[in-house]
Amino acid sequence: MQWRRLIRLTFFKSPLSCKLSPLKLLTLQFAWIIPYLFLTNYLERSLLPFRLLCYTQSNFLGVNSPLREDFKGCVRSFFPARDKDEDCGLNRRIDALIEPRTVKPWHQRMVVIRSAPMSAGYRQYVRDSWAPTLLPEVPTVFVTGHGNDDVLRKEHEKFGDILQLDFVDSYKNLTLKMMAIYGYILRAKPNIQDIIVINDDTIVNATALHQIAVSTSDDAYVLGKVSRGYPRLLMWWLPWYVPGSMYPSMCYPPFIQGSSFIITRTAAQRILNGICEIPAIHLDDVMMGVVANCLRVDLRHNEGFDHHTLDEYVVFHYQYSRYSVAEMFALWRRSGLGSRAVNDPIRW
Ligand SMILES: *[C@@H]1O[C@H](CO)[C@@H](O)[C@H](O)[C@H]1NC(C)=O
Ligand SMILES: *[C@@H]1O[C@H](CO)[C@@H](O)[C@H](O)[C@H]1NC(C)=O
Repeated sequence: MQWRRLIRLTFFKSPLSCKLSPLKLLTLQFAWIIPYLFLTNYLERSLLPFRLLCYTQSNFLGVNSPLREDFKGCVRSFFPARDKDEDCGLNRRIDALIEPRTVKPWHQRMVVIRSAPMSAGYRQYVRDSWAPTLLPEVPTVFVTGHGNDDVLRKEHEKFGDILQLDFVDSYKNLTLKMMAIYGYILRAKPNIQDIIVINDDTIVNATALHQIAVSTSDDAYVLGKVSRGYPRLLMWWLPWYVPGSMYPSMCYPPFIQGSSFIITRTAAQRILNGICEIPAIHLDDVMMGVVANCLRVDLRHNEGFDHHTLDEYVVFHYQYSRYSVAEMFALWRRSGLGSRAVNDPIRW
């Protein structure tokens, strides 16, 4: 009886509820948003307590030597209770609807920029900023899927630098997009040995990028910023939440940040061949971490990739929010790389 009375008093007959003005009510309803944003921002940024936990699990920290000897055993150790997805279509052939004119048969490296069909402004930013500072031997190509097709065709007539592949371009299809890119290059560009993948909201220091050695023969590696000791998030309301039924361990193996990396032809081929033998995780860079581990693709670390500050970077990229096109142009001017590109092209 006491409890009921208390509840009734608190929630229904509280003197407070009579005095609340509509404005106060409104404020109270939305008051949780700011602390919520701070909390999620903090959790995504530092994750410190969780990461300390993962740093104690040494089998999740190895980078250069793949953890497991045999492929099946490796997959089993990550997914003890899951089989490969029977309807996995990640390795299927995806044809090109528009092909870039910028890549010539003799090119050995190319820059692939994953771009959403609607992101014409970012593509123009790249064309007007760092793309012209790259060597002519390293062409830039924007890859999209379906969407905004008329605009894409017009853009392509003018610039010739678009590769449109036949799939629905959405955030959830990012892994499919990467596989479609690898498939296309392996089929149609036999001389490409290194695929340089970069986001459209980045700044590239061309000098630094060109200093990174070209792969030799059949090395299978991905070079970029290796992240270690990342925990699986248990906050089910965040987009990065992965349920235990999908991936049971508390920690992820090392993976490369997806905003910028270089992958060799051999590694791309191995990943495309093996991807459907491994159960899928919807976070594409984590998925690639597992795949690289089990398929014995080396992850090589370079601190200059996915760099968050404008100093000593190969590829500058701000991870936590997407800058607008105007902000990217402003950052580009501040980077000091721009003035040379316009008036005094870099000579190699
Ligand atoms: C991914 O692309 C495929 C092929 O175009 C499409 O059928 C599917 O609906 C897409 N998935 C999502 C989540 O957009
Ligand atoms: C670009 O990279 C080169 C080579 O690492 C370096 O010397 C130069 O200072 C960098 N430029 C800027 C503006 O960061």
